[in-house]
This record gives sequence, C-alpha cells and structure tokens, in this order.
Amino acid sequence: MKYEGWPIYSEEQIKIIAAASDILSRMFGYLASYIVPGITTAELDDIAEEFIRREGAEPAFKGYQPPFEDTSYPYTLCVSINEEIVHGLPSSSRYLQEGQIVSIDCGVRLKGFHADMAYTFPVGNISPQAYKLLKVTEEALYRGISQAKVGAYTGDIGHSIFEYVKSYNFAVSEQLTGHGVGEAMHMPPDIPNVGKPGKGFRLPDNLVIAIEPMVQMGSRRVRRGPDGWAVCTRDGSLAAHFEHTVVVRRGQAQILTSFEPIKKSLVHV
Ligand code: MF3
Ligand code: CO
Repeated sequence: MKYEGWPIYSEEQIKIIAAASDILSRMFGYLASYIVPGITTAELDDIAEEFIRREGAEPAFKGYQPPFEDTSYPYTLCVSINEEIVHGLPSSSRYLQEGQIVSIDCGVRLKGFHADMAYTFPVGNISPQAYKLLKVTEEALYRGISQAKVGAYTGDIGHSIFEYVKSYNFAVSEQLTGHGVGEAMHMPPDIPNVGKPGKGFRLPDNLVIAIEPMVQMGSRRVRRGPDGWAVCTRDGSLAAHFEHTVVVRRGQAQILTSFEPIKKSLVHV
C-alpha cells in the first residue's frame, strides 16, 4: 500500500473530502431514479461516470488496484446483485429485474482525496425478507457510525454492527471490512464489522474512515463470483451493503457522504 499512515487530516483537507463526498452522494441521488427493471448495469456505470466527471471529479475505482487484487478495476461502479455482496462488475448484458436487490458502491477522487459510499436499492417490488435485510444492514451502518467518536475503539464499531445483525439472525460477511480513506481509497486502520468493545485501535480526532457493513441472510461464508471480481455469499443467500465515509469527532462522527439526496429521490423505500 502506498500510504502507510492513518488518514488524520486538517480541517482544510477534510473540506476537500467533504466536497468529494457531496458529489458522490448527489450522484447516488441521481442514479436512484435509474434503478428500474430493464436497465443494464453497464448503463448505470456510464450514468455514474458522466455525473462525476461533469462535477469536475474522477471516478476513483476506475483503474484502481485494490490491495487485495492483482489487476486494476475497470469501471466506475461496483454493482452487486442479490447474492453478490461486493465488487460485482457492470455488464452490458446484465439487466436489472423486478424483485432484485442491487448494491451500488462508488468512489470519487477530488484534488487527490477520496470518498467512498455504498447503498443497496430495491428493484421495483421486493420480498418482505429482502426488505428486512436492507433495513437491518442500513441500521447496522448507523449503529456503527454512532460508535465512531474520539476515544472509542474500532472494536466498539464492529461489536455494535455485529450484535445488531445477529439479533435478526443475519450474518456479517466474513473477512470484508471498512477502512481508512483519504489520499488513497483503502488506508489503515481496518474497520471490521465484528469486534470486542474497547479492543482494536483507539480512534483519534479527525480520522476519516469508511464504515461498511456487509450482511448475508444465510451463513457468513463467501466465494468468488464468475466475473472474477464479485464476492458472493457461498450459500447463494441474499446480501446487502451500505457504506458511508465519516470523520471521527469528539461528540459524534460526522457523515460526509450525506444521505439526504438519496432519501428524497427514493419514493419506494
Ligand atoms: N468500496 C470498495 C471497498 O471498500 C472499493 C472497491 S475498489 C474496486 O472495498 F476497485 F474493487 F472497485
Ligand atoms: Co469501502
């Protein structure tokens, strides 16, 4: 990894990450209206890329080589449908279908700083169980964020996410974690979705992190998908993924990838 240090930044630098985050969250709000049966995942990717470039920023995943892979990622979005948890590749031959759940994950780079965000959308009407999975995963993210304050530990975040997900008999995906984010997409420390209170790393003021619970309806086991990038549930059960970029503060974490534009545009959730 290029950056060994933690992403602890000045207010000026955090303002740049906030500006990148603002573009990213508005992109999600815009893209939300296109999440309908019949659109291809490659079309969604084009729409996202155009939006980001029009705002004067760059799609951060495109050409990025994650520390856990040996080739670089070719698209703007990760689009992960149903049993795909993360890193699904957009494709011009994949059409969204009514009843699916589709996780959109995207990163934006602005003036050398990054923001990272994910949201799982319903495609039209979905089953009550799938809806429950979305709500539990989203709430797990907010439980995690509520723990991300100065002096707390990464274990506090993971513990709150894990316990909440467990109480619904869902599973947190094995191995996949959140991370520091700033001058690089993935920076230390890891932010696991499981942990013990008071364990792990202590969170300092102005640390910028991506918190991202990935939740499976069945077992926590994962496998690689046929496209070579997607990580899927091993048992084929549905998975959901929600992510925000936040900055650790004294009172409570500040969410940089504001959620409001999405809520406004999502009439069916
Ligand atoms: N948001 C994703 C994550 O934190 C980043 C995907 S990088 C990609 O794992 F290159 F795989 F797109
Ligand atoms: Co991330």
